[in-house]
Amino acid sequence: MSEAELPIELDRHSPSPLAAQVASQLRAAILSGVLQPNHTLPATRRLAMELGISRGVIVRAFEQLSGEGFLVSNGAGGTRVAVRPDINSRPHENRREIRASPRPDVIDLTPGRPSGSPFQDRQWRSAWKSAIADQGNVQLPPALGTSALREAVADHLAVSRGLVVDADDIIITGGTSDALQLVVAMLRNRAPQPRILMEDPGYPTARRVMTAAGAHMVTVPVDENGLKSSQLAALRDIPDAVLVTPSHQYPLGGRMAVQERLELLKWAEQHGVLVLEDDYDSEFRHSRMPLPAVASLPGGAEVVLLGTFSKNLSPWLRCGYLVVRGDAGQRLKATRQALDTPVAGVLQSAIAHYIQEGGLARHITRARREYGHRRSLLIDRLGSRRDLEVSALDGGLHAVVRFHHPDATDVAARALEQGVRVIPLAGYYADRTPENGLVLGYGAVTDLRLAKALGILSDLIRPPM
Ligand SMILES: Cc1ncc(COP(=O)(O)O)c(C=O)c1O
Repeated sequence: MSEAELPIELDRHSPSPLAAQVASQLRAAILSGVLQPNHTLPATRRLAMELGISRGVIVRAFEQLSGEGFLVSNGAGGTRVAVRPDINSRPHENRREIRASPRPDVIDLTPGRPSGSPFQDRQWRSAWKSAIADQGNVQLPPALGTSALREAVADHLAVSRGLVVDADDIIITGGTSDALQLVVAMLRNRAPQPRILMEDPGYPTARRVMTAAGAHMVTVPVDENGLKSSQLAALRDIPDAVLVTPSHQYPLGGRMAVQERLELLKWAEQHGVLVLEDDYDSEFRHSRMPLPAVASLPGGAEVVLLGTFSKNLSPWLRCGYLVVRGDAGQRLKATRQALDTPVAGVLQSAIAHYIQEGGLARHITRARREYGHRRSLLIDRLGSRRDLEVSALDGGLHAVVRFHHPDATDVAARALEQGVRVIPLAGYYADRTPENGLVLGYGAVTDLRLAKALGILSDLIRPPM
């Protein structure tokens, strides 16, 4: 696209300020894929002249979008569209891949993609056969989920997470994104625009989804071990809810200490704040035992645990669950009843069979072994480099590599030219200056392809001579 074709039309009679109009149209163009990652935007002065407005308006719009992680400023090199995991990989991925027909041999290290092996599993196919046989039902699936899947999830949580819950405490969701929309819908019954605090860096999709659902997102800067009680104590505006990733800070990969978890609960109880515990990959611990879920700790705070089948099975399924209790639990159930379920009955039935017949537990054991190998490979190839800091390796299916030089966005662009897709760490930051680094997902690649990709990346990340 030439610079002159930037899709911006201003309405000078609109009550919306011009900077907000420019920002909103550029954001829409990025989200719809019209503006692609790494596309360089025209210089602010030139764009201002073309649109017949002051340069300050463009500067404010660019700053706003940089703050949201949609744009990256390269100083004298101009401003580019950021490479962001949520925009690049979801939800526009399929359409763009068809259009751009990428090289089929690209080694894709986009995080969040698990091993594809359950779909080749005999037990998985047999679970689907049983699910199809269950299809005598012609009514709608229950809004809170089928009792078979709610019971299976409760059993699974007891074994895999040491979390003792009743099937009645479970709501089946269409994955974490759906769960977050449900939470915001529930909170909006009391506050039209609930304030939700989240970690920075954090999960960009959560931020996007909750904003789209009507929440006002605020962030707190965190290190790899997540939110600290001192930060909570210093907050002047108390949010309605706080979203945390205590088992595996996303994306930096540390974990919240037990004392901090208890302090979080104390603060939440004192101020009536709902705690949202995103427990997305705690089944995959490679070196240390998982800590108890915040939802299992004592205290009077209201905690909702968000679980997903996206990591331990596949994001292709769009299925997950909430563990809910207390008053917030009742209100979430009522909201789900009102909104109805987006999760197909046949899918719930297949997952329930798979869990009950032991398929999921076996798949997790297998996948854990696979991820363990790849993690060792990563440590082997990059761990000895003094100029790199490799982290987030305790668990999950991604690692973070931080370095001072060169610029990580350039490394990602050059890696793609050489057939390796990685995501810059910058895309996970919302309101603060990002650290320079890359996030490497190793769930869905073979060891051989990972080794090749690491060789290419290791050569590209070289400090200046
Ligand atoms: C931090 C975090 N939470 C949750 C999820 C799962 O989201 P969903 O269940 O919507 O696929 C992901 C997936 O990438 C994630 O990174």
